[in-house]
Amino acid sequence: MKKLGLGVLGLGEGRSIISGALNSELWNVVQLCDLNEQLGRERSHEFSLNNFTTSMDALLANPAVDVVGIYTPDHLHATHVIQALRAGKHVICTKPFLNDLSQARDVLAAQKQSGKAVMVGQSSRFFAPFARQRKHFETGAFGEIIMVEAYYNADHRWFLKKGWAKTDAFKWLYGGLSHPVDLVRWYLPDIAEVMGYSSLSKNGRDLGLKNDDTFQFIYKSASGITARVSGTYNSPVIPLQRDSNMSCILRCANGASQGDYYDLRYAWKLGEQSCVETFEDKDDYYFRFGGHSHHAGEYQNYIEYFARCLAAGETPKPDVREGIVTVALMQAMEESCASGQPVKVKDVLARQGLVELLQP
Ligand SMILES: NC(=O)c1ccc[n+]([C@@H]2O[C@H](COP(=O)([O-])OP(=O)(O)OC[C@H]3O[C@@H](n4cnc5c(N)ncnc54)[C@H](O)[C@@H]3O)[C@@H](O)[C@H]2O)c1
Repeated sequence: MKKLGLGVLGLGEGRSIISGALNSELWNVVQLCDLNEQLGRERSHEFSLNNFTTSMDALLANPAVDVVGIYTPDHLHATHVIQALRAGKHVICTKPFLNDLSQARDVLAAQKQSGKAVMVGQSSRFFAPFARQRKHFETGAFGEIIMVEAYYNADHRWFLKKGWAKTDAFKWLYGGLSHPVDLVRWYLPDIAEVMGYSSLSKNGRDLGLKNDDTFQFIYKSASGITARVSGTYNSPVIPLQRDSNMSCILRCANGASQGDYYDLRYAWKLGEQSCVETFEDKDDYYFRFGGHSHHAGEYQNYIEYFARCLAAGETPKPDVREGIVTVALMQAMEESCASGQPVKVKDVLARQGLVELLQP
């Protein structure tokens, strides 16, 4: 398999995809790009690379770059995805794919016109407990889904040190909740309607956050199955022994399962059998820079999946269509919080002329 050439745009969390690619036999790191020269120097030194530029145009003009990995602030993703596609590059864009639907039609058109692959880097799907939960579910042993619950709570007050996190453009509803929202849509792709509430916590207010940081939602799928999603981002969390920060629970006809981010746990019950599996021995693979604030292992898993899909002529998922519908769901959630009413995903998409994305 020919190695793919990677260009990385944004070197904060972009650090993780650099590590993932350098440790993969399927990728070459061709070029790094960030507006911040000092950070570029630090990353070049950290990974012994000598290919940094401050110019996105230079990155896009580099013929050795097959794929652009986009790790810039959330509100810039749409523009950067379009630019990369127009330059004839495949795209891997971190979550949230977009932070509203205003440029969604342009993103879709750019993807169609280029014929290039776009994959949303929904990293949690590629974390051992959630990947194992999915594979286990796909055996069919659990039977029909009755209910899905997913949450992501994190004390992310440190994140507000980033300049863009305190601007009006930054929304935890997209930046944080996109993880549990995506986990639910993985199992229930046809979420039709949402109802929810949100608030800005005292901690968030004191730190100067502009938008809400605390959320509770109920979903209904087209087939009538319900799901719950919640999250809070500026308050202390329960000790990990008792509560994983991020979790996905499937309640099904024949059994139930729970994937836990911490401590890389997966618990399940099927008939008389029950088991708690752990992937703690993989901690060093998943977290490579000390602490848990970067996601190199998840990214290595998703870029290798991306490369294998391309080699097999398959579309890596979540793709541009799935990504945009997830953004529409998050926009419906935002609208429900603002209006206090249930909101249909179809109505949100229809306003953008994108309702055809709901067709299978
Ligand atoms: N689990 C995950 O998948 C995960 C985890 C953390 C962050 N993220 C995502 O990664 C993205 C970046 O987050 P972060 O924490 O690294 O933020 P950050 O602010 O630390 O890094 C963003 C970088 O982008 C650079 N940048 C901005 N505009 C640019 C441009 N036009 N050209 C080149 N560089 C530019 C900035 O200089 C900065 O260094 C966000 O969308 C975030 O949601 C995903």
